Parts: sequence; C-alpha cells; structure tokens
Amino acid sequence: MSSIEDYILSHIDEEGELLRQLNRDAHVNLLRPRMLSGHLQGRTLKMLCRMIRPQSVLEIGTYTAYATLCMAEALEPNAMIHTIEINDELEDFIRKYLDRTDLKDRIRLYIGDALKIIPTMNETFDLVFIDADKRLYSEYFDLVFDKVEPQGFIIADNTLWDGKILDGTQHSDRQTIGIKDFNDKIAANTNVEKVILPLRDGLTIIRKNP
Ligand SMILES: C[S@@+](CC[C@H](N)C(=O)[O-])C[C@H]1O[C@@H](n2cnc3c(N)ncnc32)[C@H](O)[C@@H]1O
Repeated sequence: MSSIEDYILSHIDEEGELLRQLNRDAHVNLLRPRMLSGHLQGRTLKMLCRMIRPQSVLEIGTYTAYATLCMAEALEPNAMIHTIEINDELEDFIRKYLDRTDLKDRIRLYIGDALKIIPTMNETFDLVFIDADKRLYSEYFDLVFDKVEPQGFIIADNTLWDGKILDGTQHSDRQTIGIKDFNDKIAANTNVEKVILPLRDGLTIIRKNP
C-alpha cells in the first residue's frame, strides 16, 4: 500500500465502472482533469446525499458530471439535480455519460453562466454544491441563499485551496482572494452552522438555520 489515500480507497465503496471510465476519458481528452471530484470525494458526496435526503439539489460547476452522477446515485424517488456548466464545449462529454445511466431523467443540465441562470430558477434547494469559479464563491452563495430551504445545506469545494488561504502566504491572485473572502464571510455568518473538512482540497459544509 503506497499511501493513506490508497488505503482509504481500498476500504471504501468502489466508484463503479462508469465513473472509472469517465475519469479515464477526462484524463485523456479534457484539460484540467484534476478538477473532477474523484473517488473519495465522490463517495463522500453520495454519502452526504444519503444523510441529507434532498428533494432538490443544485450543483454550480458541472465539468464532467462526475460529482453530479455520484450525488444522483443517492437520490430519493422524485428528487432532482440541477447542474450548471458555463463551458459549452463540455456539453457533449457530459451528455455522453448522462445518457449512459438510468439517472439521466433526474438530472437537468443548464449550459450557461450560473450568475445569470440562478436568478431565473423558480426552484428551492435542500442542497447546493458550489464548485465553479473560485473568484465568485461569495457571489454564488449570496445568489442561492434565499433559494436554500431552512435547515438546507450548502457544500463548497476547494475551500483550503492548496493551503494558499493561510495567513502569511504570499498568494494574492484573484482565486485565492475569492476563497479567502468566502471563508471569512461564512465564518462571520450567524445565520448558518459551518464546518470545514480537510478532505482533498477542503470541503466546507454549511447548514442554513431554521
Ligand atoms: C472544479 S470544476 C467542477 C467539478 C465537478 N463539480 C466535480 O466535482 O466533478 C469547475 C467547473 O465550473 C465551471 N464554471 C466556472 N464558472 C462558472 C459559472 N459562472 N457558471 C457555471 N459554471 C462555471 C467551469 O467551466 C468548470 O467546468
């Protein structure tokens, strides 16, 4: 066993053949394949969906639909996932994998800018997964907050941003600033409960107060 991560992966549920193929396909054919959630985070998102039992989920930042499919595996009957991706070049890749599952009727894909699409949505959500442009995390949060049900959850990915969020590091790029501002804003927000899990690149779990 070469690492703790290998040990973990050999002692948790498998990701399954379709997601394994998607992962390989992304590594061969897409730019920045490390953006997809991957085995451990994917199984974690599925488990969180099992626990939360959302009727309606919003994902901001689909990329390959890896995380979308993981969350969809845990959906209760009649529950839906809405997922938004700004890069229209990814649509064929995403649909190729959605079409290969019997979950595709439970997943609605929107191609476009989440900042423009979210205000047009009439849904409310029990769970929102924020995983798009790191510069805009606070904007996504503000935009969805009123659409999240009381006691609903918001999960934000990459909130430890490879450690660049630590005071004293010299990172002043706009993505790092975006994540730092978001983390500070959530820490100061008394309308929510929050924890940061040091999973992969940091996963913040936020619960809206009743
Ligand atoms: C980290 S990847 C998402 C990974 C995916 N959620 C997963 O876990 O497998 C981020 C994606 O967000 C998309 N994105 C960036 N800004 C966006 C925006 N304003 N609206 C919608 N999608 C956006 C990017 O094109 C990219 O595909």
